[in-house]
This record gives sequence, C-alpha cells and structure tokens, in this order.
Amino acid sequence: MPTARIAPLTARKAWRALLDHHKTVSRVHLKKLFEDDAARGERMTVEAAGLFLDYSKNRITGETLDLLVQLAEESELRKRIDAMFAGEKINVTEDRAVLHTALRSPKDASILFNGENVVPRVHAVLDKMAGFANRVRTGEWKGYTGKRILNVINVGIGGSDLGPVMAYEALKYYSDRSITFRFVSNIDGSDFSEAVRDLNPCETLFIVSSKTFTTLETMTNAHAARDWLLAALGRDLNAVGKHFVAVSTNRAKVSDFGMDSENIFEFRDWVGGRYSMDSAIGLSTMIAIGPDNFRAMLDGFHEMDEHFRTAPFEKNIPVVMGLLAIWYNNFFGAQTVAVLPYEQYLKRFPAYLQQLTMESNGKRVTLEGNEAGYDTGPIYWGEPGTNGQHSFYQLIHQGTRLIPCDFIAFASPLNPLGRHHDILMANLFAQTEALAFGKTAEEVKADGVEDWLAPHRVFEGNRPSNTIFAQRLTPETLGKLVALYEHSVFTQGAIWDIDSFDQWGVELGKALAQRIIPELENTAEPGLSHDSSTNNLIRRYRMMKEAL
Ligand code: F6P
Repeated sequence: MPTARIAPLTARKAWRALLDHHKTVSRVHLKKLFEDDAARGERMTVEAAGLFLDYSKNRITGETLDLLVQLAEESELRKRIDAMFAGEKINVTEDRAVLHTALRSPKDASILFNGENVVPRVHAVLDKMAGFANRVRTGEWKGYTGKRILNVINVGIGGSDLGPVMAYEALKYYSDRSITFRFVSNIDGSDFSEAVRDLNPCETLFIVSSKTFTTLETMTNAHAARDWLLAALGRDLNAVGKHFVAVSTNRAKVSDFGMDSENIFEFRDWVGGRYSMDSAIGLSTMIAIGPDNFRAMLDGFHEMDEHFRTAPFEKNIPVVMGLLAIWYNNFFGAQTVAVLPYEQYLKRFPAYLQQLTMESNGKRVTLEGNEAGYDTGPIYWGEPGTNGQHSFYQLIHQGTRLIPCDFIAFASPLNPLGRHHDILMANLFAQTEALAFGKTAEEVKADGVEDWLAPHRVFEGNRPSNTIFAQRLTPETLGKLVALYEHSVFTQGAIWDIDSFDQWGVELGKALAQRIIPELENTAEPGLSHDSSTNNLIRRYRMMKEAL
C-alpha cells in the first residue's frame, strides 16, 4: 500500500496561490490580455518535436503559467516522469510498471525491468510483426484454400480496438488499398455481421487482439468468427491457423483457442490497454501501412517521449497542455475538453482520446486511497472540423458552459483539392478568433441589428483554446500527437495524485453482466433478486423475446 509522500494537492502552496490568482485572472477578458501584450500570440507558443502549440488564447497570464509550473514541481511531476521511464511500478493498484514508452525506444536503448533489458524483446516482436505484415501484404501468406488475404478484421475492444481503428483511419492515406480493413468490437451481433457480410472467408484474416484474452466481447466475437470461417471451409480446424492470429499477453489462453504459437504476437503486462496501439496490438496498422511507416510512427512517439522526459516544464508541450487542463478543470470548474481536429482522417481521434483520458483519469481516490476532494478527469469529446461547427459549436460559442478546446491542424493537405484546404484552415483560425474575442453588443448594433435581437447576436468571447499545428499528417506526426496526449494525461494524473493506469471502475458492470446473462438465457423463469427496476426490465425483456 502506498504511503503519503507529499502534501495533499489542495494543501500545496501553488494550489492556494492559484486559487487567489484565479480570482483576478477570471475577471480579465482575453481581449484585454491581447491588447496589453502585443507579442502574446508569438510568445505564448512552444515548438518541439515537430509540433507547434499556440496556447496564447487561454485565460492565463505569465504568472498563471509560473504558478502552474510550480504546482507541477510541488507535485513532484519530475520524479513521477523519471519513475515511469525507469520502469518503476507506478501503477500501484495493479502492482505494475508502466512502460509503453519502451515500445517505441530505439533498438540500441536499454530499459531495465526486473533486471532485464526489455528493448531487445520489443524489437523482436516488431520484427516478427514486420515479417508477417510483409507476407500478408505481398500475398505470400495464403489462406487455407490457397487464396491470398484480401480482408483483415481486427477483433478487439477498448484499447485493443480504438487504437487500431483510429490509426487505420488516421493513416488510411498511407495504407495498402488492395486490402480491406474492418474492426469488430461490439458484442452487438450487428457489428460482426456487418463486418463480414460481403467478405469471402477464404480471403479473410482475423486478428484477435486482447491483452487478457478473456474479454467477453472479444472472445464471443472471436468464436463467431471461427464458426463463420469453419462453416465455409468444411469445419477443418487446420483452417484456423491460416486465418487467425492473436495479439495478447496471455499465451496460454490463446493456445486454448486453438491458435498456433507461431501466430501469437506478444506484449507485456506493463503495457496498458489504452497505451497499446504501438505494441503488437498495432498489427493491423502495420499490415495496413507497412512496417516502415509503422516504425516511422514509433519514431514520432519516441521523439515526443524524449521531449516530455527532458524539456523544462514551461517549454514542455504535454506538460503545458496538462497544466492548462488542470487550470480549467479545477479552477474554472470546466467539465469537458473538446478536441477538434481539422483533418478528416482524424475522425476517430476524439473517440480514441476518450478511453485514453477518461479511463486513465476518471478516478475519485488518490494513490493513498483517500477521497480526492477535487475534480479529476474532465470529459473529452469532439468531432472533426468543420462538421462540428454545424452542430455543437453553438453551445461552445454562446452556451453557459466554459469548454476549453484543442484545435488540431496541418499545413499541408493529404488530398489537395481546389480551395478546400485554405477554406478549412480559414475556418479553424476564425473559430479560435471568434471564441476568444467574440462580438460585443456595440459591434452587433453597429451592424444594424435591432435592440431586441442584439443579445441573441452577441458573442461574449473569452472562450479558451489551444491550437496544435503540424506540417502534415504522417505516421510520424500521428505518433507525436498520441504521445502528446498520453503525457498530458500523465501530467494531470500526477498532479491529482491518482493512479492513471488502472481501471477498476469497469469491473462491477462486467461482473453484474455475467450474473444476468443466465437470467436472460435460461428457459426456466429465473428467481430474480435485483432491485425492482432491474428485475422488471429483465422480465420485460424475457417476455418480449418470447413474443417473437
Ligand atoms: O474493460 C476495460 C478494458 O480492460 C480496457 O482497459 C481494455 O483496453 C479493454 O477492456 C480490452 O481488454 P483486453 O485487451 O484485455 O481484451
């Protein structure tokens, strides 16, 4: 059991100073901050690892950042970063190290865990993945009937799905278009049925991705996939080896499924599910974009890791973003952060971030097991621009809630088309400008708007945003972007003093579902002992099911 190391967050000097400081800063409009400092827009920026962060449109002054950095120091963030990179068991409730950074370390690095340098094994798995990916991509790997693989289906859920889907969508431009990629995650049978409905089993490869190889959804879908395949291939179990590979930390369970040990791609329990897209869980990504692009993505991750590990906090992009998240969450009471990529290929990025951020920092007790007593993980959400502009931006501009936004943009489009990219970028710049500076009642009236209508047309402004800017969406840039958010989440969790690497909150629902499944499946009326609502819903479901 961890013992208390530092003062509770709300007793730290910087925290108290920030509370006072907030009283002043929260009354100042961004317009004023910009008027008072002509160079603010150039000064409040950081450029590192090929990413440029403009954080000037935040409701902060130089002093705010100094105090936030002081808070990071008092929270021993540096020590926590070093502990993570050194493979210490910072995931205390699961007694595990947190070493996803080792997955992207160069071949000649040495990272010791329990006295073993883990890097050679990481690279051995990468080489095995590359060999396999190349065989599938070139058609050398044949299905059971001798046909080449034209469809790859990743079966997994949570971190064993969201990373692969997001990366596939994000890097589709670089993918082999002769292969169809699909992702089955949901236990809703429609997910599997839709994924395979137009596919030929003889040309289909399933990658069963599950860290534990026990997850109900994944195992049920994997069995459905095996049945689907065997039904078409004459029930010959030898076909399984040609059409199924597994990615897991649980070799024994994979063998039970009937998979050849040659077809298992391993990773270790020091890789959390939501931090695993660059482990063997990325096998579908590697098949899609090829081993060289996958390695470029890992290089991108590594560059951001090194920046996070070594840069001073005030020049450290993930730290600055993490601290700003704390500023809004804990001092302004903001409950959410919107992530708005102006890049269609990043359409699944907000969904990916939801698991990364909320499974990591959705915790109500500190490492010592005490009630935190302050808000932790904000809700992350978003949609690509400009689509979001035509749906929920109204609330961000004129609603009653403060919603800090991360805008993500790239200078070079992957698919140049007429004026599209300039128009896209103009919209992004316009949104951050409108959010920050708004439009006053005087300006509205000067446009000839009648008095009664003016309040509806006023934009208060003073709504904060970050802009993250990169040259182009490449595998490398994607790695940097994901690592940036991973480390921002880490920074937040370290300051809140919580375990960002466990996820006990998902367990109760799983256990209750296991209890309820037989109550739905039994032909005999079950004796129900839930609450009256759950009992009633179960009875109603059974009745409606029977009525079919
Ligand atoms: O239920 C939550 C969770 O454990 C996630 O943390 C994880 O990414 C997901 O389920 C899938 O787990 P597995 O890879 O073991 O199937």
